[in-house]
Amino acid sequence: VEVGVVIVAAGSGQRLGHGIPKARVLCGGRPLLDHAVDAVLRSDVATAVVAVLPEDDDVLAAVVAEAATRYAGRTHDTAGTRTPVRISSITGGSTRTASVRAGIDALPPTIGIVLVHDAARALTPPAVFRRVASAVADGAPAVVPVLPVVDTVKVVDGDLVTATPDRAALRAVQTPQGFDAVALRAAHAGDAAAHPGITDDAMLMEALGHAVHVVEGDPLAFKVTTPLDLVIAEAVLAQESA
Ligand code: C5P
Repeated sequence: VEVGVVIVAAGSGQRLGHGIPKARVLCGGRPLLDHAVDAVLRSDVATAVVAVLPEDDDVLAAVVAEAATRYAGRTHDTAGTRTPVRISSITGGSTRTASVRAGIDALPPTIGIVLVHDAARALTPPAVFRRVASAVADGAPAVVPVLPVVDTVKVVDGDLVTATPDRAALRAVQTPQGFDAVALRAAHAGDAAAHPGITDDAMLMEALGHAVHVVEGDPLAFKVTTPLDLVIAEAVLAQESA
């Protein structure tokens, strides 16, 4: 089965406070999106990679074009057939769901498994992509990488705690999230996709009654969201190149 990866990078990145789209923020001297594209290509799971970008973002479009040049001639072996790896970029939408939808629509029709990945999870190890893709290939319609939750989590109403869920049953969800392409395309074509409470594709699939499976995530797949995350990401890269 051919695997396609949608890298969503169309967010504004306001919480990082750099005043530019998050995917453009430099880490180890390179934009986060560049790291994310490299991570996908190093995992060698995909025959097509689509980066979903903010409107008219020439900087990020150039990052993707350079990656396409860097990986020109790269092929992927799908069941004994070598297919060229296609790397492209398109413009996203006003919500993450709209951006994912645009990415799915840009994938070739031959794709049977779709991985949806946040550009902000720039340092995700290749093994996570492989774990998620193989779980979908083994028959799961939806797969998310997860980690145990280290903090106790409270449900609140205003400034009052109303419940404390059992921490042992909670997991923090990362990306890439993997899906059967037919099921994911159908989910995004339906009404549920437009619901504002749907924050990721696994939640959309869950809402439609699909079984969502979990595989082990990785601490390095953390989402660069705050300035502290960027400090951590810089330190990880510095350590890797030391
Ligand atoms: O805002 P949040 O951190 O949840 O965004 C997760 C991912 O979704 C980011 O990689 C961001 O670039 C992407 N996104 C997008 N289009 C939007 C909003 C977010 O591609 N309209």
